[in-house]
This record gives sequence, structure tokens and C-alpha cells, in this order.
Amino acid sequence: MKSALGCVFSALAASVSSSSLHALRQTPPQLDYKLLPRAACDNTNKSRNCWGNYSIDTNYYDETPDTGVTREYWLSVEEGDCAPDGYARQCQTINGTVPGPTIFADWGDSLIIHVTNNLKSNGTGIHWHGLRQSGSNIYDGVPGITQCAIAIGQSMTYRFKVSQYGSTWYHSHFSLQYANGVFGGMIFNGPATANYDEDLGHLFLSDWSHVDVFTRWFAARNGQPPALESGLINGTNKFDCSTSSTDPNCTGRGVKLTTVVEKGKKYRLRLVNAAVDGVFQFSIDKHKLKVIAADLVPIKPYSTSSLKLTEGQRYDIIFHANQAVDNYWVRAGWLNACQPNVNPDSITSVLRYNASSTLDPTSTSDVTVSSDCLDEPLASLVPHLKMDVTNIHKSFDTYLNISTTNYVHWTINTSSLLIDWNNPTLKQVFNGESLFPTDYNVLAINKTTTDDEWIVLVIQDQSNLGLEHPIHLHGHDFWILDQSTGTFDAATSPQSFKTKNPPRRDVAALPGNGYLAIAFIPDNPGAWLCHCHIAWHASEGLSLEFLEREADIQADVSDSDRTQFNDICQTWSDNVGTQAFPQEDSGI
Ligand code: C2O
Repeated sequence: MKSALGCVFSALAASVSSSSLHALRQTPPQLDYKLLPRAACDNTNKSRNCWGNYSIDTNYYDETPDTGVTREYWLSVEEGDCAPDGYARQCQTINGTVPGPTIFADWGDSLIIHVTNNLKSNGTGIHWHGLRQSGSNIYDGVPGITQCAIAIGQSMTYRFKVSQYGSTWYHSHFSLQYANGVFGGMIFNGPATANYDEDLGHLFLSDWSHVDVFTRWFAARNGQPPALESGLINGTNKFDCSTSSTDPNCTGRGVKLTTVVEKGKKYRLRLVNAAVDGVFQFSIDKHKLKVIAADLVPIKPYSTSSLKLTEGQRYDIIFHANQAVDNYWVRAGWLNACQPNVNPDSITSVLRYNASSTLDPTSTSDVTVSSDCLDEPLASLVPHLKMDVTNIHKSFDTYLNISTTNYVHWTINTSSLLIDWNNPTLKQVFNGESLFPTDYNVLAINKTTTDDEWIVLVIQDQSNLGLEHPIHLHGHDFWILDQSTGTFDAATSPQSFKTKNPPRRDVAALPGNGYLAIAFIPDNPGAWLCHCHIAWHASEGLSLEFLEREADIQADVSDSDRTQFNDICQTWSDNVGTQAFPQEDSGI
């Protein structure tokens, strides 16, 4: 496994080659990952709940430490040859690797991240998944919503405060680009709800296409989402070339990720489902998983032998290396019934107790394969910081359907999202507009009081296809009020909403032919996307956006934020005629 420090070094190395000036200003990497000494208590392997003058009990929605530390990173979005599973193809990466460098910070730090578009065709924009971005909607990174696309050769600097802690990821939000490799991890150090000895960092679970994902869009949008050939764990796997020995691209030189543990120790892993289209039921043979966080929300630890992740979700887990000294399979657990993959069972990595062993594990799984494509049971996901939904201000009751005119479009209240990379919602807000194009799917929230009053979104699936959709909201954690296979009735269904400390997170599954009801507090002015995290479906327009407190948005935007925003838009529109950027999907 790539060590946490290794990732920091690769970020540094990339910044050295792209700009030695920047490299001189970079914080020494050794400091990047160490925790600064804390005043009131020490966060050690016996006291993960403490965090200096703060702790796991701090209400992190209201309070953020002020570390005074700013960390700066340089990300280059670029094309390259790659063969992450031993099959050679062109891909798109951050700083030349899949996943890109991990961004580390402490809870309460500030981040400055410079993103440069070094691609040959395509704009870009990087979204920091799950971050609330309080007061920094303009850095949410969605071309067509919060910024124009970054043109080739152009850089954009994202600035925001780290007001949450835990595990998340960043990814391109420009069309299908992240599925070609443009994603990486973010680790925000902070307290945790259970103790562990060592942090092994991220474990990215993803599906992987053997050709550029954009070329598969045409099949997907005709209603045939392709079965991708392969899958990766932390950007690596070993693809079996024995059946394709005449294919020169099949090098057979892929390697499986290997993680070495010491018997008796407890390890933390940060799982991410980064798939284009696929649900995982993760497990480690013979090892129990203790789950301590769902997305960026610490939960009451619970123990399980397998864990389901829908697209975009994260779980932090601890496993105890308490089994016989041997080799064990780590199984991503692709659920082939949800979406087929050509090699569903080969998405694995190796756990070794003995570093010098080179043998493949012979362990077997005793996990019962899940029969649905939904989330973990809601009853398991109990937030440590208890918060009830007490006062519902307004409910948006929406309907999901599908239209097949020209190609597959998902519609919400009959409209499929289609944005223009050159005309983001925020630009329209800055121009003082109050009417937005229909296909921007804007739902306005103009709640201005400071009381805790919740907005509810209900999405009822009327498409009758029985497919689950992982719904992700930007700019907020949401409370899951209901996740039902039934039909929503505005008069009676709210009576069964779970309002007493329900699970909070930023991605939750909408059950096929059923409904999802989520609540959030409109305390964050901005244009916030809410979409299905299956990449094909997002491209097919399965999205709406909340325009939250439009009148308060500009107050958060400084002159220099605005200058950069205009500059990015100007460069994009100057170049859009000369560079090839055909928009063939919703844009997100
Ligand atoms: Cu992972 Cu719109 O986000």
C-alpha cells in the first residue's frame, strides 16, 4: 500500500517539476502529516476521541478549531499512458497517478489548491466531495454551476477552510472525466469514535474501463451502460491476459495492492466507492470491520463482516489484525447484479501478516452476497453527535422519471439537467438574474432566519425501472428521514419520517421505484448541486440544484475571488471556439 507519506511526497515531486518557485514555498512534507501538539489532550492510539481543546463531542457544525495553518497543493490535470491493471490505455490523471495525490490537512486548517488544466481536449474543474464549503460556494468546483470550466493551459486557485474532519475525495466534475482517472483522496485529521494504532489511509474501490470512458458514453446513453472490463483498488490490479494473449495492450504486468500488517495491531482504513457505476460489498476474509464514520460523519462504532458502499460514499473502518499469521484476500465485493463487470470477482487486494511472503492468499469468504443495491441499514448508522430534525420549514416533493427522446435523459419534475460550462449559475447570480434556464433545474430556497429550520427534499422514483440511485447533495450533510420502497404520500408519509438522530451523510440511496426523503438546514448560501452519483446518470441529467439564499451569496465573494471567476470565464469563452470541447451530456 502507498504510505500516507508517500502520497505527500508525490504531490511535492509534481509541484517541483511543474514549478520550482511553488516548490520553494511548499511546507516540508514531513510536517504535512504529523499532528501539531495539542493543548488539552493528546490524540494517541489510546485516546482517538480527543483533539486538543476539542473532541469527538464538539459540534463541528458550529465550532471549528483555528489552527492558523494554511496548506498549499498543486494539482495538474493531465493526459498520460497508463496501465493501472496491466492493460495499456490513455487516461486522464492528477499529477500523473490514479488516484492523484492525497490532500492532507488538520481540522481547522485552510487549504489553497492550485489546479492547472494540462489536458489536450476538455475543460476541467475539481470538486471537493462532501465539503460544506461554508462561505466558499464559489470554490465548490462544478463547471456550469459554481464556475466556468478551466480552459487548457489555465490555472484556478481554490481556497477554503477545513471545517470537517475524516475521509473524503476530490474528483473532476467536468462530464465523465473522473472516470478516466481524475480523482484523489482527502484526509482531514481529527478525533474518531474508536481507537486504532495505525492509519493506512484510503482504499479507493473503482471500476475501470479498458478504453477512454468518453467513448463508452454513446452506449450508456442509449440505455446500455457498458460492463467495464476491470476494477481497481487504490488504482492498481492485475488483469488476467491469458484469454487475450494476442491483444498487445494486455501487458500482464499489473500488480495487486499489498497491505502488510503486524499481528495484534488495529488499523484504520478509509474506504471510498469511486466507481462510474457499481455498488461494492467490501470485506476482508476472516476479519471483522468496525465502522466509525459514514461519509464525513463520525458514527457510533458497529461491527460487521461486510460493508456496502454506493457510488460516492465513504466509510472509515478499523480492523484488528488478530487472525493467524497468513495471507488474506481483501475483496472490493462488486455486486454484479447491480451493474455487470467483466471481471467482478477479481477486484481484490492482498493483506499479509508476513511481509516477506509472496504467495497469493488461499482464504475464502464467508460473506453472504447482498441481494440489493442499497445502503447499509439505516439503524446501523447512528451519528455520534446527536441531532434531531425538529422543525420542517418547507418540503420540495419531486418526481424522477426517464425520457428516451434522442437518448436517455433522467428528469426531475419533467426536466433533465443541462448546463452550459460558459454560463454557471453563479455568473447569473452575479448578474442579478432571478430567472434561470429551465434545464438548470433550480429550486430556490429563500429562508433567511437563523433558527434551525430544515428544508426537506423528497425524490419519488416514477421511472418504474427498479434501479437504485445514490443521491448526493453538495454543500451540506443531510439527515435521512426516509428511504422507502413505497410511494410517497405528502399527507401521510411524513408521519413516519425518522427525525430522532437519523443518519447524516452526503450520499444516500434512493430505492428503485421508491422514495428518498432528506433534510438539511439552509445555512449555507450558494448554488448546490444535488445529483445521482452514478456517472452515466449524472451525464444523463439526473440532477437538480438548490439556489440557497441567493441574496446572501455575493457577500461571501471577495474582489479577488470575483476577479479570478471572471478570468476563468473569459479564458474559457475566448478559447471555446478554437479548442475542441464538444458537450455531449448534461455537463456535470
Ligand atoms: Cu462527488 Cu457532485 O460529486
